[in-house]
Amino acid sequence: MFQLSNEGLTKVKKELQRYESKDSAIIPALYVAQKENKGWISPDVIHHLSQVMDIAESKITEVFSFYTMFNKKPVGKYHVQVCCTLSCALNGARELADHLCHELKVRAEEMTEDGRFTISKVECLGSCGTAPMMQVNDRYYENLTPESAMNILRGLK
Ligand code: FES
Repeated sequence: MFQLSNEGLTKVKKELQRYESKDSAIIPALYVAQKENKGWISPDVIHHLSQVMDIAESKITEVFSFYTMFNKKPVGKYHVQVCCTLSCALNGARELADHLCHELKVRAEEMTEDGRFTISKVECLGSCGTAPMMQVNDRYYENLTPESAMNILRGLK
């Protein structure tokens, strides 16, 4: 059963006080919870947030299911999000993502057997001028080639 840490609980309570409407705190609260739940939002995370925030589970689910930055299933230790929108697509992002999947022997959106990587194809991450790019957890990597992207992943501990 998921429970926020004391630190997480403090953060969520602070967010609740920050806004006039409690609903505005749902996105930051989901961020905090996702970080504490190994990178994804499970049904018991939603249940717990609902109790802590005194907001209906359906309302939290509505927000959670709308935004792609909240993961619907477990992801690897490194969540590799390859932007496949226009600028990146025109500069080889789909081939890059396919190369990573091929090298890691995994399909997009699935986790590698060792639990280290999940490769996702995502929409624009706001770094179009340095396409193609990928986000790995909280870091951006830009001006990639399939080989340089794979080398970055190989270098992660
Ligand atoms: S199109 Fe890839 S970052 Fe915008």
